[in-house]
Amino acid sequence: MSDRVKVVVTGAAGQISYSLIPRLVDGTVFGNKIVDLELVEIPAVLNKLEGMVMEMEDSFFPHLGDINITDNFAVAAESSDWFLLVGSIPRGIVLNGKKIEERSDLLKVNGGIFIDQGKAIGEKGKENAKILVVGNPANTNALIGHHHAHNETQLWMAMTMLDSNRAKSFLAKKASVTVDKVSKMTIWGNHSPTMYPDFENALIGNQRGADVFSDLQWIEEEFIPGVQQRGKAVIDARGASSATSAAKAALDTVRAVEQKTIDGDCFSAAIVSDGSYGIDEGLVAGVPLISDGQGKVDLVRDFSLSEFAKQKIQISIEELKSEKEAVADLLD
Ligand code: NAD
Ligand code: LMR
Repeated sequence: MSDRVKVVVTGAAGQISYSLIPRLVDGTVFGNKIVDLELVEIPAVLNKLEGMVMEMEDSFFPHLGDINITDNFAVAAESSDWFLLVGSIPRGIVLNGKKIEERSDLLKVNGGIFIDQGKAIGEKGKENAKILVVGNPANTNALIGHHHAHNETQLWMAMTMLDSNRAKSFLAKKASVTVDKVSKMTIWGNHSPTMYPDFENALIGNQRGADVFSDLQWIEEEFIPGVQQRGKAVIDARGASSATSAAKAALDTVRAVEQKTIDGDCFSAAIVSDGSYGIDEGLVAGVPLISDGQGKVDLVRDFSLSEFAKQKIQISIEELKSEKEAVADLLD
């Protein structure tokens, strides 16, 4: 295995990236590997990235390799192992006189970015490259990117780890335990208000969530909507979308792929469906995953889903289908 890893980060001058980039090279994500960074931005803010490079150099990171800034994604993509696609516009801002309220309102604004990025990744990225789409609407952006990549040896994911971390936090508080006692947390479906956080299959210590949480009113009225709407709650409170927690979740996803999953656990990300669990083939939907720590990520296929869960998941799948229809012109 190579002792270097090349990572592309788009939206590198944005607020998530400011928290994300330094932690990619601190030795906690890629172990002892030297990390080469390709930081990609739009031309207007490339000068901001010069400041980022200075700060990275000034931070004494022994694992930092080459660091390059560019507005040319295709050049950055050459032989890269990881692509963290953060670059896109967040909701909560006013665009053309209209406030962007829902992540799906970003479909047409951001979707186009992923056509050329998908093509470049498919052609120039490493054969076993891993791609994590953070920019919203993450699932459908990943769908567009994967479609244009035409490369099935690479793994496309959309980020649901932040939702999974949020769900763990809600469940831990309710069960009066620390967050590390909550495992096997899956976010099914879309990174949107229809996502389904699977409390039943989650483990609290060794106990199934289905056996721990008997207060179904709390599940239906506080837990599920609380996780689904947490992004909006952060925007309302901060006046900006989540950044440090989003960066942590991106790092957690990379780590979850790079390291072997602990037996009995799983991690959450949205991947291209093969039709399992009744999810339409080709949609990018959140599912439970495991990694062998050698680059191979697999779907966990033996989750049992209650009728309640199946109904909730179907709502999210229907939303993903309608998002796909809405971007049909970007999938030619
Ligand atoms: P930000 O506005 O601070 O930064 C985004 C950056 O992307 C900007 O610097 C912008 O110049 C850059 N950019 C735009 N188009 C680009 C392109 N074509 N190539 C390269 N860079 C480009 O936004 P942020 O707060 O960092 O959020 C970024 C995205 O992540 C948003 O879409 C946000 O909604 C999303 N997000 C997703 C999750 C998740 O859980 N999936 C969580 C938080 C935020
Ligand atoms: C989040 O979940 O925090 C992000 O997707 C940002 C948003 O728009 O909610």
